[in-house]
Amino acid sequence: MRIGVLCSRVRVEEKLLFNAFAERGVDVVRLDERELAIQPTSFIPNVDILLERSVSTNAGLIAAQLFEAVGTTVINNYHTASICADKIRTSLVLAQHGVPQPITEIAFSEESALQAIERIGYPVVLKPPVGSWGRLLARINDRDAAEAIIEHKLTLGSYQHHVFYIQEYITKPQRDIRAFVIGTEVICAIYRQSSHWITNTARGGQAANCPVTDELAHICQQAALAVSNQQGGILAIDILEDEHRGYLVCEVNHTMEFRNSIDTTGVNIPMRIVQYVLEVAQGVAAR
Ligand SMILES: Nc1ncnc2c1ncn2[C@@H]1O[C@H](COP(=O)(O)OP(=O)(O)O)[C@@H](O)[C@H]1O
Ligand SMILES: [Mg+2]
Repeated sequence: MRIGVLCSRVRVEEKLLFNAFAERGVDVVRLDERELAIQPTSFIPNVDILLERSVSTNAGLIAAQLFEAVGTTVINNYHTASICADKIRTSLVLAQHGVPQPITEIAFSEESALQAIERIGYPVVLKPPVGSWGRLLARINDRDAAEAIIEHKLTLGSYQHHVFYIQEYITKPQRDIRAFVIGTEVICAIYRQSSHWITNTARGGQAANCPVTDELAHICQQAALAVSNQQGGILAIDILEDEHRGYLVCEVNHTMEFRNSIDTTGVNIPMRIVQYVLEVAQGVAAR
């Protein structure tokens, strides 16, 4: 089995993954999507298993389709990645599988968006349906701000910003939870603490170990199974704590960063990822 890692920029995470593969004595092919030009009809891949770690969500999704089309096993597979990359599709599958999430509405015009916002009640959160690292999230406290943000999105935003993903604001305890799922197992979790309501570590959130209780493991497994057609994968689940409803799934990530979570949790996340990739490879080889 030839194992490849798709990445362009080598972040700390990819370095740790390459080191973990080397520690297991596994030679991996490094593929950089910037060097690829693929003819769909005649593409012969030089790997059997591809760990997709592209910084570009779009490039990763397209590469996953092109490699899967010619028989490469991609981790995470295209189905899972395409759901995680899209907050609207994530909300949809979470709803279909009965996984608790904040009240969310998707609206298609200025009028319907304002109606949805007022139905949910201030404050609400507006998120780009495709996006990460806490960018372009808006907490909206009143009608004036709602009108302004919507007008700006419609005037200045690209077409993706013309559909509105509107969510109730969860009054969480100055932190959220990020849980790591490998396969179907919740291997560890961190609190991301911040004085800002956006707690992403990319926005300054501080990581602290979060014990994985049965309750936390259960909702994270439910979310992981929902986005992956019951297969599991390498996923990071963002969880919000609501005073009355308990855990709510905020989003699921499919090419997560984990540099701040290894020492914090004491779990060797890159090695766990590598072990999972090797298990998948064994399964493919046995077919
Ligand atoms: N509905 C919400 N209520 C309260 N906080 C939220 C809500 N949605 C997001 N957040 C905060 O914003 C952060 C980023 O939101 P998220 O949906 O994970 O987007 P991204 O893909 O940019 O990480 C979350 O980790 C959380 O701290
Ligand atoms: Mg997030």
